Amino acid sequence: MSIGLENSVANPVNWTSSISYQSKATARPTAADLRELTWKAKTRNQTLGVTGMLLYDNGRFFQTLEGPPASLQTLWSSISDDRRHSDIEILSEHIIPTRLFGEWDMLSYHGDEQPYTAMLAAKARHELTAQVPDLIDLVLNGDDLGINKRIAALAEDGWDGNDVIKHLIEPTARALGDAWLSDDCTELDLTIGLSMLQLAGHAVRHTPTPAALRNNRYSILLASAPGEAHTLGISLMADLFTDAGWHVDMAFPDSNQALSNQLASQKPDALDIGLSDALPRQHSLANLRETIERSRFAAPDQLTVVSVGGRLFADAAATADNVGADHARKTVTGTTIEIAELIRQKRQEPRSR
Ligand SMILES: Cc1cc2nc3c(=O)[nH]c(=O)nc-3n(C[C@H](O)[C@H](O)[C@H](O)COP(=O)(O)O)c2cc1C
Repeated sequence: MSIGLENSVANPVNWTSSISYQSKATARPTAADLRELTWKAKTRNQTLGVTGMLLYDNGRFFQTLEGPPASLQTLWSSISDDRRHSDIEILSEHIIPTRLFGEWDMLSYHGDEQPYTAMLAAKARHELTAQVPDLIDLVLNGDDLGINKRIAALAEDGWDGNDVIKHLIEPTARALGDAWLSDDCTELDLTIGLSMLQLAGHAVRHTPTPAALRNNRYSILLASAPGEAHTLGISLMADLFTDAGWHVDMAFPDSNQALSNQLASQKPDALDIGLSDALPRQHSLANLRETIERSRFAAPDQLTVVSVGGRLFADAAATADNVGADHARKTVTGTTIEIAELIRQKRQEPRSR
């Protein structure tokens, strides 16, 4: 691999700083105190371009903040001086090419108000997502042994494979895309990196349950968008759909016609078309719309659901409606259930038991 993460850190102009810490509340805050703190924090963070999350539970704060390095420094000098907490312990501090909590907008869970499980889920998500910088490092250094070890350790610790995909592998793909966009790695690094993530995703797959296999009712064609070179998403989907008992075919068409031919001969119940999971591909919307129109035309009697995925949809930069699809996935996890439900709804079939 040509360029490691260190080179990028040396030039962090477009990068995001991230800090996570825990601390002790000096006095037990009331729900109103926490609401006020969160509201004020949210307003100031928005002005500074900072996102993140804040948890409070039983006398302890836990916070992750990310944003432009200068903004974070300003904010940190306020927070670290704040007398409402003490014993601040910094858990991680990184400079990374992408935001991990971009959509969180200072979302907060307060132990006193919110279900404890929601807080635990948020914390679990954080623990996985906090490993993205390490995983990018391993990927950019071509350390497949290190990646295997990391994934195996997560499995041993009891992490759910879906969570690992959603909160670690997919965010790492987006971070790699950002590293390439800001010239911090080569296209070859990106391509090889995505294949390594594909293998990592394969390693966390679930074993199919007999019930899933008995429910083998639907078929899906997983296709990369014509001309799309990145296939991480559809490879991960192939594992998930196979494990859920679907009949799965894959296609890597080079044209709309090639995809139409495959649809006409295979007649799947659903089609999923994947764009890159690493790069946003903003300019492919019109083409994708055309691909979908032609796909529906190619298998009008059978094809019930058309789903799309890729970074463009994960970032919410485009929706299913924008391209005439029935479904857009933000992550591969849960897609088997969502698409089965859509097929049922569209055909008005009863839910299987
Ligand atoms: C646990 C904890 C987390 C906080 N998080 C934020 C935050 O994310 N953003 C923010 O503007 N203020 C946050 N604050 C409040 C800041 O410490 C500070 O009071 C506020 O930013 C105003 O800054 P100033 O006193 O320097 O004007 C937090 C305070 C505590 C105790």
